[in-house]
Amino acid sequence: MGHDQTLMHTCETAKEKHAVTGASWLIRISEIFAGHESEIIVGLGAQALRKLGRDFHLIRIKQPEAIRHSPLARYLRWNMPVHHSWPCNPRETDGFIEKAAQALLRKFGESKAQTLICGPIDPGSPKRYDRTLASNLRGRALQLFPSEWSAIKNAEQQNPKKPSLFCLVGKEGLYAGLQSPAECDGFFPGGTKFIPQNSPDTISRAGAKIAEALHHLQLTRRPPPGGARWLEIGASPGGMTTELLAREYEVIAVDRAPLDARLKHRKGLMQFVADAADFMPPPGLTFDAMLCDMNGDARDAMRQLARLSKNLRQGGLVIFTLKLPGISSIDETTTLELRSK
Ligand SMILES: C[S@@+](CC[C@H](N)C(=O)[O-])C[C@H]1O[C@@H](n2cnc3c(N)ncnc32)[C@H](O)[C@@H]1O
Repeated sequence: MGHDQTLMHTCETAKEKHAVTGASWLIRISEIFAGHESEIIVGLGAQALRKLGRDFHLIRIKQPEAIRHSPLARYLRWNMPVHHSWPCNPRETDGFIEKAAQALLRKFGESKAQTLICGPIDPGSPKRYDRTLASNLRGRALQLFPSEWSAIKNAEQQNPKKPSLFCLVGKEGLYAGLQSPAECDGFFPGGTKFIPQNSPDTISRAGAKIAEALHHLQLTRRPPPGGARWLEIGASPGGMTTELLAREYEVIAVDRAPLDARLKHRKGLMQFVADAADFMPPPGLTFDAMLCDMNGDARDAMRQLARLSKNLRQGGLVIFTLKLPGISSIDETTTLELRSK
Protein backbone atom coordinates (compact mmCIF):
# COMPACT_ATOMS: atom_id res chain seq x y z
CA MET A 1 0.00 0.00 0.00
CA GLY A 2 1.97 2.99 -1.28
CA HIS A 3 5.05 4.30 0.48
CA ASP A 4 5.68 3.86 4.14
CA GLN A 5 7.51 6.97 5.04
CA THR A 6 7.77 8.36 8.54
CA LEU A 7 7.52 12.13 8.86
CA MET A 8 7.91 14.57 11.68
CA HIS A 9 5.40 17.37 11.84
CA THR A 10 6.09 20.69 13.43
CA CYS A 11 2.65 20.55 15.01
CA GLU A 12 3.62 17.62 17.19
CA THR A 13 4.65 18.12 20.75
CA ALA A 14 7.93 16.65 21.98
CA LYS A 15 5.92 14.06 23.91
CA GLU A 16 4.04 12.95 20.76
CA LYS A 17 7.31 12.59 18.82
CA HIS A 18 8.58 10.32 21.51
CA ALA A 19 5.39 8.29 21.91
CA VAL A 20 4.21 7.79 18.32
CA THR A 21 5.97 5.76 15.68
CA GLY A 22 4.90 4.53 12.27
CA ALA A 23 3.81 6.17 9.05
CA SER A 24 1.77 9.36 8.73
CA TRP A 25 -1.59 9.03 7.01
CA LEU A 26 -4.54 11.26 6.39
CA ILE A 27 -7.87 9.56 6.87
CA ARG A 28 -11.34 11.00 6.42
CA ILE A 29 -14.11 9.94 8.76
CA SER A 30 -17.48 11.29 7.60
CA GLU A 31 -19.15 13.73 9.95
CA ILE A 32 -22.00 11.25 10.39
CA PHE A 33 -19.64 9.23 12.62
CA ALA A 34 -18.66 12.29 14.69
CA GLY A 35 -18.28 11.20 18.29
CA HIS A 36 -16.83 7.83 17.24
CA GLU A 37 -13.57 9.08 15.70
CA SER A 38 -11.34 8.10 18.64
CA GLU A 39 -12.89 4.63 18.77
CA ILE A 40 -12.26 4.17 15.03
CA ILE A 41 -8.67 5.51 15.14
CA VAL A 42 -7.72 3.43 18.19
CA GLY A 43 -9.44 0.39 16.62
CA LEU A 44 -7.18 0.77 13.58
CA GLY A 45 -4.17 0.57 15.90
CA ALA A 46 -3.34 4.21 15.12
CA GLN A 47 -2.71 7.35 17.10
CA ALA A 48 -4.41 10.66 16.33
CA LEU A 49 -1.98 13.52 15.74
CA ARG A 50 -4.26 16.31 14.61
CA LYS A 51 -7.73 16.95 13.22
CA LEU A 52 -7.70 18.83 9.92
CA GLY A 53 -10.78 20.65 8.66
CA ARG A 54 -14.12 19.13 9.54
CA ASP A 55 -13.41 15.45 9.11
CA PHE A 56 -9.80 14.69 8.14
CA HIS A 57 -7.47 13.21 10.73
CA LEU A 58 -3.71 13.10 10.59
CA ILE A 59 -2.71 9.83 12.21
CA ARG A 60 0.41 7.82 12.84
CA ILE A 61 -0.02 4.11 12.19
CA LYS A 62 2.38 1.18 12.52
CA GLN A 63 0.40 -1.19 10.29
CA PRO A 64 -1.14 0.83 7.44
CA GLU A 65 -2.74 -2.39 6.07
CA ALA A 66 -5.40 -1.87 8.74
CA ILE A 67 -6.62 1.18 6.78
CA ARG A 68 -7.82 -1.21 4.05
CA HIS A 69 -8.38 -4.48 5.88
CA SER A 70 -9.58 -3.81 9.41
CA PRO A 71 -13.38 -4.13 10.00
CA LEU A 72 -13.16 -0.45 10.97
CA ALA A 73 -11.92 0.45 7.47
CA ARG A 74 -15.58 0.73 6.37
CA TYR A 75 -15.86 3.96 8.40
CA LEU A 76 -13.07 5.64 6.43
CA ARG A 77 -14.33 7.76 3.57
CA TRP A 78 -10.88 8.28 2.06
CA ASN A 79 -7.21 7.78 2.94
CA MET A 80 -3.80 8.90 1.78
CA PRO A 81 -0.24 8.23 2.97
CA VAL A 82 1.42 11.56 3.81
CA HIS A 83 4.71 11.66 1.90
CA HIS A 84 5.10 15.42 2.10
CA SER A 85 3.61 18.03 4.39
CA TRP A 86 3.97 21.74 4.97
CA PRO A 87 1.92 22.78 8.00
CA CYS A 88 1.58 26.51 7.36
CA ASN A 89 -1.28 28.93 6.76
CA PRO A 90 -1.18 29.67 3.00
CA ARG A 91 -2.85 33.08 3.48
CA GLU A 92 0.01 34.16 5.73
CA THR A 93 2.79 32.64 3.63
CA ASP A 94 4.36 34.81 0.93
CA GLY A 95 4.52 33.06 -2.45
CA PHE A 96 2.79 29.96 -1.10
CA ILE A 97 1.76 28.57 -4.51
CA GLU A 98 5.21 28.95 -6.10
CA LYS A 99 7.05 27.53 -3.09
CA ALA A 100 4.58 24.65 -2.73
CA ALA A 101 4.72 23.80 -6.46
CA GLN A 102 8.55 23.84 -6.47
CA ALA A 103 8.67 21.62 -3.38
CA LEU A 104 6.26 19.13 -5.01
CA LEU A 105 8.45 19.11 -8.13
CA ARG A 106 11.62 18.44 -6.11
CA LYS A 107 9.99 15.62 -4.22
CA PHE A 108 7.76 13.96 -6.83
CA GLY A 109 9.01 15.15 -10.24
CA GLU A 110 10.67 11.78 -10.89
CA SER A 111 7.81 9.69 -9.56
CA LYS A 112 5.62 7.42 -11.69
CA ALA A 113 2.41 9.28 -10.85
CA GLN A 114 -0.17 9.63 -13.64
CA THR A 115 -1.10 13.17 -12.60
CA LEU A 116 -1.49 15.63 -9.73
CA ILE A 117 -4.95 16.12 -8.22
CA CYS A 118 -5.42 18.93 -5.68
CA GLY A 119 -8.37 19.64 -3.43
CA PRO A 120 -9.35 21.56 -0.31
CA ILE A 121 -8.98 19.98 3.13
CA ASP A 122 -12.56 21.04 3.76
CA PRO A 123 -14.28 19.82 0.56
CA GLY A 124 -17.79 20.78 1.73
CA SER A 125 -16.82 24.29 2.81
CA PRO A 126 -18.81 27.06 1.11
CA LYS A 127 -15.63 29.21 1.14
CA ARG A 128 -14.16 29.54 -2.32
CA TYR A 129 -10.66 30.46 -1.10
CA ASP A 130 -9.41 26.89 -0.53
CA ARG A 131 -10.94 25.55 -3.75
CA THR A 132 -9.28 28.35 -5.73
CA LEU A 133 -6.00 27.75 -3.91
CA ALA A 134 -6.13 24.03 -4.80
CA SER A 135 -6.94 24.78 -8.41
CA ASN A 136 -4.17 27.41 -8.73
CA LEU A 137 -1.65 25.06 -7.12
CA ARG A 138 -2.54 22.30 -9.61
CA GLY A 139 -2.29 24.77 -12.48
CA ARG A 140 1.17 26.02 -11.47
CA ALA A 141 2.57 22.59 -10.55
CA LEU A 142 1.44 21.07 -13.86
CA GLN A 143 3.45 23.75 -15.68
CA LEU A 144 6.53 22.32 -13.93
CA PHE A 145 5.79 18.58 -14.05
CA PRO A 146 6.25 16.33 -17.15
CA SER A 147 3.67 17.19 -19.84
CA GLU A 148 1.97 13.72 -19.57
CA TRP A 149 0.65 14.77 -16.16
CA SER A 150 -1.49 17.43 -17.87
CA ALA A 151 -3.24 14.90 -20.15
CA ILE A 152 -5.70 14.12 -17.36
CA LYS A 153 -8.10 17.06 -17.37
CA ASN A 154 -10.49 15.88 -14.70
CA ALA A 155 -10.28 13.47 -11.80
CA GLU A 156 -12.55 10.82 -13.35
CA GLN A 157 -10.11 10.30 -16.24
CA GLN A 158 -7.56 8.80 -13.84
CA ASN A 159 -6.73 5.11 -14.11
CA PRO A 160 -8.08 3.90 -10.75
CA LYS A 161 -5.21 1.41 -10.40
CA LYS A 162 -2.28 3.76 -11.11
CA PRO A 163 -0.76 6.07 -8.49
CA SER A 164 -1.58 9.74 -8.58
CA LEU A 165 -0.08 12.52 -6.54
CA PHE A 166 -2.93 13.75 -4.32
CA CYS A 167 -2.54 17.07 -2.58
CA LEU A 168 -4.83 18.66 0.01
CA VAL A 169 -4.58 22.32 0.98
CA GLY A 170 -6.29 24.47 3.57
CA LYS A 171 -5.58 26.80 6.45
CA GLU A 172 -3.80 23.88 8.16
CA GLY A 173 -1.24 23.68 5.33
CA LEU A 174 -0.44 21.25 2.55
CA TYR A 175 -0.47 17.44 2.69
CA ALA A 176 0.53 15.30 -0.29
CA GLY A 177 0.88 11.59 -0.98
CA LEU A 178 1.23 9.10 -3.81
CA GLN A 179 -1.41 6.42 -4.06
CA SER A 180 -3.89 5.06 -6.61
CA PRO A 181 -7.50 6.35 -6.54
CA ALA A 182 -8.68 2.77 -5.81
CA GLU A 183 -6.43 2.56 -2.74
CA CYS A 184 -7.45 6.04 -1.62
CA ASP A 185 -11.10 5.04 -2.17
CA GLY A 186 -12.01 7.92 -4.45
CA PHE A 187 -10.98 9.84 -7.57
CA PHE A 188 -11.22 13.19 -5.77
CA PRO A 189 -9.16 14.24 -2.74
CA GLY A 190 -11.40 13.35 0.19
CA GLY A 191 -13.44 11.03 -2.00
CA THR A 192 -16.43 13.31 -2.58
CA LYS A 193 -17.75 14.19 -5.99
CA PHE A 194 -19.94 17.28 -5.92
CA ILE A 195 -23.34 16.31 -7.35
CA PRO A 196 -25.85 19.17 -7.50
CA GLN A 197 -29.36 18.08 -6.48
CA ASN A 198 -31.20 21.33 -5.89
CA SER A 199 -32.72 22.19 -9.26
CA PRO A 200 -36.53 22.67 -9.37
CA ASP A 201 -36.70 19.38 -11.35
CA THR A 202 -35.07 17.35 -8.55
CA ILE A 203 -37.64 14.81 -7.32
CA SER A 204 -35.72 13.87 -4.18
CA ARG A 205 -32.21 14.41 -2.90
CA ALA A 206 -31.79 10.62 -2.72
CA GLY A 207 -30.80 10.80 -6.40
CA ALA A 208 -27.37 12.10 -5.35
CA LYS A 209 -26.77 8.87 -3.41
CA ILE A 210 -27.10 6.59 -6.42
CA ALA A 211 -25.17 9.05 -8.60
CA GLU A 212 -22.34 8.97 -6.01
CA ALA A 213 -22.52 5.16 -5.71
CA LEU A 214 -22.26 4.71 -9.50
CA HIS A 215 -19.34 7.16 -9.58
CA HIS A 216 -17.58 5.28 -6.77
CA LEU A 217 -18.20 1.94 -8.47
CA GLN A 218 -15.86 2.96 -11.30
CA LEU A 219 -12.95 2.46 -8.90
CA THR A 220 -13.47 -1.29 -8.91
CA ARG A 221 -15.75 -2.34 -11.76
CA ARG A 222 -17.70 -0.96 -14.68
CA PRO A 223 -21.24 0.17 -13.91
CA PRO A 224 -23.89 -1.86 -15.79
CA PRO A 225 -24.16 -0.79 -19.44
CA GLY A 226 -27.09 1.30 -20.71
CA GLY A 227 -30.18 -0.86 -21.25
CA ALA A 228 -29.46 -2.99 -18.15
CA ARG A 229 -32.54 -3.78 -16.04
CA TRP A 230 -32.72 -2.65 -12.40
CA LEU A 231 -35.14 -3.72 -9.70
CA GLU A 232 -35.53 -0.83 -7.29
CA ILE A 233 -37.32 -1.34 -3.96
CA GLY A 234 -38.17 1.66 -1.81
CA ALA A 235 -38.29 3.80 -4.97
CA SER A 236 -40.82 6.53 -4.10
CA PRO A 237 -40.87 9.45 -4.76
CA GLY A 238 -38.28 8.63 -7.43
CA GLY A 239 -35.04 10.62 -7.11
CA MET A 240 -32.94 7.49 -7.67
CA THR A 241 -35.31 6.23 -10.39
CA THR A 242 -34.72 9.51 -12.24
CA GLU A 243 -30.94 9.01 -12.09
CA LEU A 244 -31.22 5.43 -13.35
CA LEU A 245 -33.52 6.40 -16.23
CA ALA A 246 -31.15 9.25 -17.13
CA ARG A 247 -28.45 6.59 -17.65
CA GLU A 248 -30.77 4.74 -20.03
CA TYR A 249 -31.41 1.86 -17.67
CA GLU A 250 -34.73 -0.01 -17.50
CA VAL A 251 -36.25 0.26 -14.03
CA ILE A 252 -38.82 -1.86 -12.20
CA ALA A 253 -39.75 0.38 -9.28
CA VAL A 254 -41.51 -1.03 -6.20
CA ASP A 255 -42.82 1.01 -3.29
CA ARG A 256 -45.88 1.17 -1.04
CA ALA A 257 -46.20 4.79 -2.18
CA PRO A 258 -46.53 5.90 -5.80
CA LEU A 259 -43.74 7.60 -7.72
CA ASP A 260 -43.87 11.32 -8.40
CA ALA A 261 -46.34 12.12 -11.17
CA ARG A 262 -43.51 13.59 -13.28
CA LEU A 263 -42.26 10.04 -13.84
CA LYS A 264 -45.56 8.82 -15.29
CA HIS A 265 -45.19 7.31 -18.78
CA ARG A 266 -41.38 7.53 -18.65
CA LYS A 267 -39.79 5.19 -21.19
CA GLY A 268 -38.15 2.15 -19.58
CA LEU A 269 -40.06 2.41 -16.29
CA MET A 270 -42.43 -0.20 -14.82
CA GLN A 271 -44.02 0.80 -11.53
CA PHE A 272 -45.53 -1.49 -8.85
CA VAL A 273 -47.31 0.19 -5.93
CA ALA A 274 -46.99 -2.62 -3.39
CA ASP A 275 -45.31 -3.69 -0.21
CA ALA A 276 -41.92 -5.20 -1.09
CA ALA A 277 -42.91 -8.36 0.83
CA ASP A 278 -45.88 -8.91 -1.55
CA PHE A 279 -44.04 -8.14 -4.78
CA MET A 280 -43.57 -11.14 -7.07
CA PRO A 281 -41.51 -10.41 -10.20
CA PRO A 282 -43.37 -11.24 -13.42
CA PRO A 283 -42.48 -14.83 -14.46
CA GLY A 284 -39.18 -15.17 -16.28
CA LEU A 285 -38.09 -11.59 -15.55
CA THR A 286 -34.45 -11.23 -14.47
CA PHE A 287 -32.51 -8.20 -13.25
CA ASP A 288 -28.96 -7.05 -14.00
CA ALA A 289 -28.85 -4.97 -10.82
CA MET A 290 -30.86 -4.36 -7.65
CA LEU A 291 -31.17 -1.18 -5.62
CA CYS A 292 -32.75 -1.01 -2.20
CA ASP A 293 -33.46 2.26 -0.39
CA MET A 294 -36.30 1.10 1.86
CA ASN A 295 -36.60 2.80 5.21
CA GLY A 296 -37.50 0.92 8.38
CA ASP A 297 -35.56 -1.97 9.89
CA ALA A 298 -32.54 -2.76 7.68
CA ARG A 299 -33.01 -6.48 8.41
CA ASP A 300 -36.47 -6.45 6.76
CA ALA A 301 -34.99 -4.75 3.70
CA MET A 302 -32.20 -7.35 3.59
CA ARG A 303 -34.73 -10.19 3.76
CA GLN A 304 -36.66 -8.82 0.77
CA LEU A 305 -33.47 -8.25 -1.16
CA ALA A 306 -32.32 -11.83 -0.47
CA ARG A 307 -35.71 -13.22 -1.60
CA LEU A 308 -35.77 -11.18 -4.80
CA SER A 309 -32.11 -11.83 -5.61
CA LYS A 310 -33.20 -15.24 -7.01
CA ASN A 311 -34.06 -13.26 -10.15
CA LEU A 312 -30.71 -11.45 -10.22
CA ARG A 313 -28.46 -12.66 -12.99
CA GLN A 314 -25.15 -14.20 -11.97
CA GLY A 315 -22.54 -11.53 -11.17
CA GLY A 316 -25.28 -8.89 -10.97
CA LEU A 317 -24.87 -5.78 -8.87
CA VAL A 318 -26.61 -4.97 -5.56
CA ILE A 319 -26.64 -1.45 -4.11
CA PHE A 320 -28.15 -1.13 -0.65
CA THR A 321 -28.50 1.91 1.57
CA LEU A 322 -27.95 0.74 5.12
CA LYS A 323 -30.35 2.66 7.38
CA LEU A 324 -29.56 2.59 11.06
CA PRO A 325 -32.60 3.74 13.06
CA GLY A 326 -32.08 3.17 16.78
CA ILE A 327 -28.46 2.06 16.32
CA SER A 328 -25.88 4.17 18.04
CA SER A 329 -22.67 2.16 18.40
CA ILE A 330 -19.96 1.21 15.93
CA ASP A 331 -20.23 -2.45 17.03
CA GLU A 332 -23.95 -2.66 16.19
CA THR A 333 -23.34 -1.08 12.78
CA THR A 334 -20.46 -3.43 11.99
CA THR A 335 -22.57 -6.47 12.92
CA LEU A 336 -25.43 -5.31 10.66
CA GLU A 337 -23.11 -4.62 7.77
CA LEU A 338 -21.33 -7.96 8.04
CA ARG A 339 -24.70 -9.74 8.02
CA SER A 340 -25.75 -7.85 4.90
CA LYS A 341 -22.76 -9.18 2.88
C1 LIG B 1 -36.03 7.02 1.77
S1 LIG B 1 -37.52 6.65 0.92
C2 LIG B 1 -36.93 6.23 -0.67
C3 LIG B 1 -36.46 7.39 -1.48
C4 LIG B 1 -36.28 6.99 -2.92
N1 LIG B 1 -35.28 5.95 -3.08
C5 LIG B 1 -35.96 8.14 -3.85
O1 LIG B 1 -34.93 8.06 -4.52
O2 LIG B 1 -36.72 9.09 -3.91
C6 LIG B 1 -37.93 5.10 1.58
C7 LIG B 1 -39.08 4.44 0.88
O3 LIG B 1 -39.17 3.10 1.35
C8 LIG B 1 -40.53 2.72 1.21
N2 LIG B 1 -40.77 1.50 1.98
C9 LIG B 1 -40.47 1.26 3.26
N3 LIG B 1 -40.85 0.03 3.60
C10 LIG B 1 -41.40 -0.53 2.49
C11 LIG B 1 -41.96 -1.79 2.19
N4 LIG B 1 -42.05 -2.73 3.12
N5 LIG B 1 -42.38 -2.02 0.95
C12 LIG B 1 -42.32 -1.08 -0.01
N6 LIG B 1 -41.81 0.16 0.20
C13 LIG B 1 -41.35 0.42 1.44
C14 LIG B 1 -41.28 3.94 1.72
O4 LIG B 1 -42.61 3.95 1.23
C15 LIG B 1 -40.43 5.09 1.18
O5 LIG B 1 -40.99 5.59 -0.01
